[in-house]
Amino acid sequence: MAADLSPIDKAKFVAAKRAVEFIEDGMRVGLGTGSTAAWMVRCLAERMREEGLRVTGVPTSSRTAGLARQLGIPITSLDEARWLDLTIDGADEFDHDLALIKGGGGALLQEKIVATASDRMIVIADTAKEVAQLGGFPLPLEVIPFGWQTTKALIEETLVSLEVLGRDVTLRMNGERPFVTDEGNYIVDLHLGRIGNPRQLSLVVNQIPGVVENGLFIDICDIVVIGHGDGRVEVR
Ligand code: 5RP
Repeated sequence: MAADLSPIDKAKFVAAKRAVEFIEDGMRVGLGTGSTAAWMVRCLAERMREEGLRVTGVPTSSRTAGLARQLGIPITSLDEARWLDLTIDGADEFDHDLALIKGGGGALLQEKIVATASDRMIVIADTAKEVAQLGGFPLPLEVIPFGWQTTKALIEETLVSLEVLGRDVTLRMNGERPFVTDEGNYIVDLHLGRIGNPRQLSLVVNQIPGVVENGLFIDICDIVVIGHGDGRVEVR
């Protein structure tokens, strides 16, 4: 599976392969979204084929559901599973407290619900995702399409009141049209540069009417598995 990979894909692959070793027979596992999580789904399918491991997956997006089905991984809904043993997902950034920015792929809402409903969350990442301070990657907020421009203005006002420095707020596009999430919502990205107080920001933006959820994951991730381009893996 790993033949002829670029260093970045190799880093994602080795992190995914190591993380999948945490999965035990009979577990209910949240399946993340994104290119690193896709490696994890492939590695899980391989373990299930080769070792007869039995796992039920709860996908965090229609994309991941499609990949899991294609690879023969049994999947169910979170409502059916209720509580999960483990979720494995990628991230756009993580810091030394294992706080995350997620949602680069637009699946942050399901990802946060699924990770929160899991005994443990493992993040898989390449070294470029590690940061001293969150915020270099734009922070996604999922917003209801109804009145989104008003919601965006309220978000901008909130950033001013919090004295956040970078305040560029953009609607995520898919070509000429707004990007639409699996829940039928829009995403606005906050280009902040750095986030001084992620906990406060997460609480405050979620109070704005029209904001469904934000991409800050605080006190949710338990372990980060970091892959290097030369094939080394670190577990923290
Ligand atoms: C999707 C996510 C992804 O996990 C995040 O964007 C990382 O993606 P990739 O593994 O492709 O770098 O949060 O909503």
